[in-house]
Amino acid sequence: MKTTFSIIKADVGGWPGHALVHPDLIELANKKLAVAKKDKLLIDFHVAHCGDDLELIMTHNKGVDAEEIHCLSWDTFCEATEKARDLGLYGAGQDLLSDAFSGNVKGMGPGLAEIEFTERKAEPVIAFMMDKTEPGAFNYPIFKMFADPFNTAGLIIDPSCHDGFVFEVWDIKEHKNVMMKSPEEMYDLLALIGAKSRFVIKRVFPKTSSKLPSKEAVSAISTEKLYQIAGEYVGKDDPVGIVRAQSGLPALGEVLEAFSHGHLVSGWMRGSHNGPLMPVSLKDAQCTRFDGPPRVVALGFQLKNGKLTQPVDLFDDPAFDYTRNKAQHVMEYMRRHGPFEPHRLPMEDMEYTTLPKVMKKLGPRFKKIK
Ligand code: 13P
Ligand code: 13P
Ligand code: MG
Ligand code: MG
Repeated sequence: MKTTFSIIKADVGGWPGHALVHPDLIELANKKLAVAKKDKLLIDFHVAHCGDDLELIMTHNKGVDAEEIHCLSWDTFCEATEKARDLGLYGAGQDLLSDAFSGNVKGMGPGLAEIEFTERKAEPVIAFMMDKTEPGAFNYPIFKMFADPFNTAGLIIDPSCHDGFVFEVWDIKEHKNVMMKSPEEMYDLLALIGAKSRFVIKRVFPKTSSKLPSKEAVSAISTEKLYQIAGEYVGKDDPVGIVRAQSGLPALGEVLEAFSHGHLVSGWMRGSHNGPLMPVSLKDAQCTRFDGPPRVVALGFQLKNGKLTQPVDLFDDPAFDYTRNKAQHVMEYMRRHGPFEPHRLPMEDMEYTTLPKVMKKLGPRFKKIK
């Protein structure tokens, strides 16, 4: 029997502003998912948050895109929105962009990452959750984990990783995807995924030479772009990702090492600024300075027949203090640029802000330069 690991998330109201999820919403989601576990729809679950995003981590046997699981998530977000309204939280129901749920949360506002796989003897799985950024923020660390030997020693010294991996890359503007092999096509892969607002890594697969089934993803990332659904800026996409580790895959420490740089991502303040991605513990997963900086939390589980161990809050480690300090220096440096690029996003990424309106208003006043 295969296990499905799903993370489905939404911002259904911030406390205060866009800082954090209110504990009453976490409690509500816990109660709702506990009933689903009792009813055997879920094998297990864990409710978490990153910043103002409510994260439902669930295991089950229903496969990816299962209507019952999506329905459960949607209902949970709707009830949490009601609670958020009662409490007067900010932007209640922010990410629920449609009233007409039709069996799948895709394209409705929530973000999701799901993998169905055959459990190994011991199955370490890491749930990554980000706030104040976009799906392309995962490109750099996922590439580092599965393709960069300076990050992942196993690519060189572990015979079961040595052949590399296959990346599924989505062009989220043209709605197309392409499968690319690493290391053979590494330079072409980087040519695409370096343009992170357009090309995003959706999944990673083992090669056919691997001892792992080559059709079962070893990593998956949410790729929903809220502005494409809503047609205007309503909040940032705040992605989630799943990564399986060890025994033919990057070791846990190689997976986490990919976050040690504090790389620059888009989505800080009003979804319109670049800033460093800071890896933090759950207790620090609240976005305060200039609504940020962008953050990532990592919860590590061992899985057994779909049952989850207690999560380990993986960035709750002084070994990441240096990255956090560096991110704070970079944050200060970027902030001093105020409304100037490259702190503010380039024109083409400001399509859903006031910038086009400013251009329209000033249009008649622009005179041709002779
Ligand atoms: P695996 O047994 O999962 O290959 O782990 C190797 C290791 O020791 C990582 O540091
Ligand atoms: P969220 O996408 O996390 O709600 O943040 C929106 C925002 O504009 C923060 O400045
Ligand atoms: Mg918000
Ligand atoms: Mg958010």
